[in-house]
Amino acid sequence: MRILLLGSGGREHALAWKMLKSSKCKTLFVAPGNAGTALISCNVAINPTDFEAIKKFSINEKIDMVVVGPEDPLVQGIYDFFKNDTQLNHIPVIGPSKVGAQLEGSKEFAKQFLVRNNIPTAAYDSFTTETVEKGVQFLATLQPPYVLKADGLAAGKGVLIINDLNEAQTELRNMLVHAKFGQASAKVVIEEFLDGIELSCFVITDGKNYKILPTAKDYKRIGEGDTGLNTGGMGAVSPVPFVDTFLMEKIETRIVKPTIAGLQNEGIEYKGFVFIGLINVKGEPMVIEYNVRMGDPETEVVMPRIQSDLVALFEAVGNQKLDEFSVEIDPRSATTIMVVSGGYPEDYEKGYEIAGLEKVEDSIVFHAGTTIKDNKVVTNGGRVLAVTSYGEDFQEAIKKSYQNIEKLHFDKMYYRKDIGFDLL
Ligand code: AMP
Ligand code: GLY
Repeated sequence: MRILLLGSGGREHALAWKMLKSSKCKTLFVAPGNAGTALISCNVAINPTDFEAIKKFSINEKIDMVVVGPEDPLVQGIYDFFKNDTQLNHIPVIGPSKVGAQLEGSKEFAKQFLVRNNIPTAAYDSFTTETVEKGVQFLATLQPPYVLKADGLAAGKGVLIINDLNEAQTELRNMLVHAKFGQASAKVVIEEFLDGIELSCFVITDGKNYKILPTAKDYKRIGEGDTGLNTGGMGAVSPVPFVDTFLMEKIETRIVKPTIAGLQNEGIEYKGFVFIGLINVKGEPMVIEYNVRMGDPETEVVMPRIQSDLVALFEAVGNQKLDEFSVEIDPRSATTIMVVSGGYPEDYEKGYEIAGLEKVEDSIVFHAGTTIKDNKVVTNGGRVLAVTSYGEDFQEAIKKSYQNIEKLHFDKMYYRKDIGFDLL
């Protein structure tokens, strides 16, 4: 098959790496890709939201399947774009329809879906510019901390958790009246605060059947001990050690099954990944959010643990034959540590040469923000590399990643040295 993968991060390098292990994958294009995907496949200079360019390329290159990494093209309707075009509708797109992508594209849509389908989640209400004063009053009826969520996509920055009532009320006005997150905060969901430990559950569905993929836990804050600003993710561990069969069964019966049944009953087409952000509140799993794609850096630990053929899995998703497919999982742990540019997630510089990549042994380096300049691999983003290792347990895997990171160097390189600290 000739496959086109959209995206350019560590997630896409990990998806590409895994797809290339399949004998079914004859040619892999990544649009736009990074230096890591350039080493193993063919990068194409196309923006993942430029649907007309993707169409032209797919026709010219006789693409047989499109795999979508990031959320933007999904929320903008790439699935429907292919389905509704007579020249493209034979090509399966791995991802949800535009309506399905609203599970990530609109927090309010997701909350309404959760409530309609009786799936455990935090109590909430939502407000617009017209009802801002009602929102201010609503906050006064809640206990701190206050959780404010911009309804739309805000590049992972749209959630505020605030202890002080006055500050929460001011921020609500900033979001609704002063467009703090632009159009994304024209509507705001205010939610009950849930206290517990977070984990991510990954599911792949063909719209009727589903398979549960390995769980993972990511580390979102920039600083050690989970302090400082939020990032895209600084490291991940799979499986999540505290998820026993008892908790997994609750997750499957109370959350996964009703999610897939809800999609089907509501006629929402969905052939792709569902990333369910969960919080374990005293043994009771509750949904924090849905994402309609894989996580980054979670993909960098989930893909290495999938032993089955990923392209065959995607084919089964496209043909709605997932019930006939069995997903084999590697029992070992996998961990990844993100190596980032100094300053990230605020301002940082790009273009620094990355040294030591050839010295890495017994780990996999997935590239995130890298590019090739004058035949050298240089930094090209905030999150630069994800160093993944296997181990009998997560401690062994983490140790290997840290040993290899010590061989890597670029100016102002930073990484967290405590990934997994809360799991001991
Ligand atoms: P989200 O973008 O919805 O994943 O929210 C970002 C982060 O905010 C989550 O990973 C949680 O750490 C936190 N969060 C979101 N909603 C809640 C909630 N209701 N209670 C506690 N923490 C939350
Ligand atoms: N690591 C969190 C995400 O991909 O949204």
